[in-house]
Amino acid sequence: MTVTVLLGAPGSGKGTQAKRLTTDEAFVHLSTGDMLRSAIKSGTPLGKEAQTFMDRGELVPDKTMIGLITETAQTLPNPTTRVLLDGFPRTLPQAEALANAPSAPVAKAIFFKVPEAELIRRLTGRRVCGNCGASFHLVSLPPKKDGVCDTCNGPLKQRPDDSEAVVLKRLEIFTKQNSQLLDFYRRQGKLVEIDADQPVAELQASLLKILR
Ligand code: AP5
Repeated sequence: MTVTVLLGAPGSGKGTQAKRLTTDEAFVHLSTGDMLRSAIKSGTPLGKEAQTFMDRGELVPDKTMIGLITETAQTLPNPTTRVLLDGFPRTLPQAEALANAPSAPVAKAIFFKVPEAELIRRLTGRRVCGNCGASFHLVSLPPKKDGVCDTCNGPLKQRPDDSEAVVLKRLEIFTKQNSQLLDFYRRQGKLVEIDADQPVAELQASLLKILR
């Protein structure tokens, strides 16, 4: 397995790009946010623990997240699997734990750079399918039919943590943690920074050049 870490603020487009690359290019997309939301939906102990933190826009404790990623990595035994890791690591202890997992070697860490005003616009306008999880934006990626998922016809909803107050909290926490993470991967020569303030298809083309 080789891992590409996707780093970037909430709303920088990590999930949108990873989902497209998974469909088109046979990458495996591992999103800790999606895993936690699925645990909340199923009412598992992990979901119950995570929900309190997520609703407030705070990070779930490192010990829980490191355990979740370690367990998930063991379910991907194929050595040729190319993983796009979205949402992990978010703190230095998480990055160190990943570096100490020989079965999940990090090849690159790609940092999606987007100005804060654009992040707020993207997050508050995001709508997600309650059925299949596909993500849309009211202005820049609207569904064909209002409130209805293009993929499965499921209902589109706003994520509870996409209200403006919680978005501001998430961005504040991101800013506090991010420079340590960038330094960590820069020191190892693995950091690639990308201008993610460009249209979805153009950003995907730039990413593919880095990933191939
Ligand atoms: P998570 O789900 O990972 O949220 P996030 O990092 O805050 O990321 P987002 O999903 O909000 O943003 P994204 O970059 O994927 O953007 P997207 O592509 O959707 O985590 C949620 C919570 O879980 C955390 O707050 C925390 O509590 C917990 N958690 C998760 N991992 C954790 C960890 N490791 N440790 C501790 N806690 C953890 O795009 C956003 C919008 O913009 C969409 O509407 C999209 O259509 C639009 N858009 C995308 N690209 C473009 C573009 N190029 N141009 C215009 N619009 C675009």
